[in-house]
Amino acid sequence: MTAGAGKIRPLVAGNWKMNGLKAGLHEALTVRDALTAPLANIAADVMIAPPATLLLAMADACHPGPLSFAGQDCHVNASGAHTGDISAEMLKESGATAVIVGHSERRADHGETDRIVQSKAAAARRAGLTAIICLGETIGERNAGLALSVVARQLKNSVPDGATAADTVIAYEPVWAIGTGLTPSPADVAEVHGLIRRDLITRFGAEGAAMRLLYGGSVKPDNARVLLTVDNVNGALVGGASLKASDFLAIVRAYES
Ligand code: 13P
Repeated sequence: MTAGAGKIRPLVAGNWKMNGLKAGLHEALTVRDALTAPLANIAADVMIAPPATLLLAMADACHPGPLSFAGQDCHVNASGAHTGDISAEMLKESGATAVIVGHSERRADHGETDRIVQSKAAAARRAGLTAIICLGETIGERNAGLALSVVARQLKNSVPDGATAADTVIAYEPVWAIGTGLTPSPADVAEVHGLIRRDLITRFGAEGAAMRLLYGGSVKPDNARVLLTVDNVNGALVGGASLKASDFLAIVRAYES
């Protein structure tokens, strides 16, 4: 099977996390220019989730073009007395078409539970954004043989009822693979993504069959092709390697025909 096979159009999303100042905007412009040509026919959508401070400037600078943008988190409410928070509506107005919710760093650093993540995904839908809902087990859970049950529980409780393939993307990011250079074997990725797909079909039918399932955790230019050709992997959520256009584009090229 080649990367991009099947009828689900893949998504390669770069999560810049808390990195990037205005001086880094040219990396996004380089990606935009490459997607305009020579990668105009790449068989994937490409997205960057910059820090909120750069979202508007990046979206404006790269418009018009094939690159899309996401926020990294949103509040569950549209507005109100929530100092420091950002709503899905604000992200949308700043040029985002999607928002990452439930990243393991937010679950760990901010105590976000599955139910909070579910509310954030519902908030994204309310604002007209696609929710990229992150799941993944810790190393302790994997070593205890709990990876599948943890992911199944997170999936069940983090995805809102009525989710569709247009408004929901699932990202499987094993916590122990994030920023470590470690990755699960293709067989392990296939096992988890197969479980996610089955559960989504059981719950959402044809919409679940059509949802994009991303793999995230130490995706790099040299392992992208292997990871992205695993069954039920419909793209990647890339952290560190998305910060430099050259690395990110090398990953996107896994979908070059
Ligand atoms: P790394 O690609 O740096 O491991 O980060 C993955 C990630 O957390 C993307 O959301």
